[in-house]
Amino acid sequence: MDGKILVTGGAGYVGSHVAMALADAGLVPIILDDFSSSSRAVLPRLSALAGRTVEHVEADVRDTAALRKLFHDHPIAAVIHCAGLKGVGDGETRPLAFWDVNVGGTMALAEVMGEAGVARLVFSSSATVYGQPESLPVGEDAPLKPNGVYGRTKRAAEDFLRDLTRANPNWRIALLRYFNPAGAHPSARIGEAPLGRPDNLVPLLCRIAGGGFGELAIFGSDWPTEDGTGVRDYLHVQDLAEGHLAAIRFLATAPGATAFNLGMGRGWSVLEVVRAFEAACGRRIARSFVPRRPGDVACYYADPARAEALLAWRARRDLDAICADAWRWQLAGGGY
Ligand code: UFG
Repeated sequence: MDGKILVTGGAGYVGSHVAMALADAGLVPIILDDFSSSSRAVLPRLSALAGRTVEHVEADVRDTAALRKLFHDHPIAAVIHCAGLKGVGDGETRPLAFWDVNVGGTMALAEVMGEAGVARLVFSSSATVYGQPESLPVGEDAPLKPNGVYGRTKRAAEDFLRDLTRANPNWRIALLRYFNPAGAHPSARIGEAPLGRPDNLVPLLCRIAGGGFGELAIFGSDWPTEDGTGVRDYLHVQDLAEGHLAAIRFLATAPGATAFNLGMGRGWSVLEVVRAFEAACGRRIARSFVPRRPGDVACYYADPARAEALLAWRARRDLDAICADAWRWQLAGGGY
């Protein structure tokens, strides 16, 4: 492909793995990040892994002047838009920031892409747009009923992007709805680096097994699932990153906006994840049951058939690989 691929939020957890997957495929990523929730230290690691300098621009995705300069200075062929605020709990206390960054940031980016004549966009969305699913597995045409602020900002950004493609058929947009990304690059040089005590299950298991983070509080033992704990569709971040590459290729020929579920297509309970993690790290995870976490749902997992059919993509790495790579990353320090 001629030109560079802009990865907004490219220093973050998903974005850094996406940038790496692009470089591995011989494409040229350029990262935009403001490092508000990521580390500059990821950049030299990416360059070392890629075997050449991975370029970056430091700016906020809402900064249209900085975006205009970036598109002027670099030949951009397509954009993968990962920049945004995430976190179900965090969104509830900071609605203004979440709407401004997630929706306003997407609008600012689209405005400048339009001016620059760049029409191919892959958007980081989330399975949280579905809320409590009515049936399983969850297909892309399931109703979008997000439970909270975070999910509503993702749904609004999706709606906005669909409106763009309706008004101007030049736009080609893939809306990637991530299920539960976990794991790390097998090199253990890049991975998820949450600040403080992580909210998500796998990074929390890493910290607990590493010591100093107490025990795992399992949110609920009375869910209507086989063992009473919540069931989710965990997918390896490397598989997720490869899904973005497949989406970029798909957009070479596909007009309009298309949503894709990126998941394994099956679920694992919290206890199954804990056992797989214990096997990977060779340590016992101390745990206890506590009441359900507000806003949680019992069970969901993806129907990834559309991604398989149209993107020729499927998640190939299993839960054991997720746990082994997450633990290797933790042993290497688990951060930057
Ligand atoms: N869990 C615990 N204890 C913990 C943390 C999690 O029991 O300390 C359980 C949860 O109840 C759930 C499962 O582990 O059953 C996974 O929880 P995560 O917080 O890791 O993930 P969620 O499915 O709640 O949320 C994730 C992302 C969101 C995203 C959502 C939907 O964190 O950003 O998936 O895609 F919106």
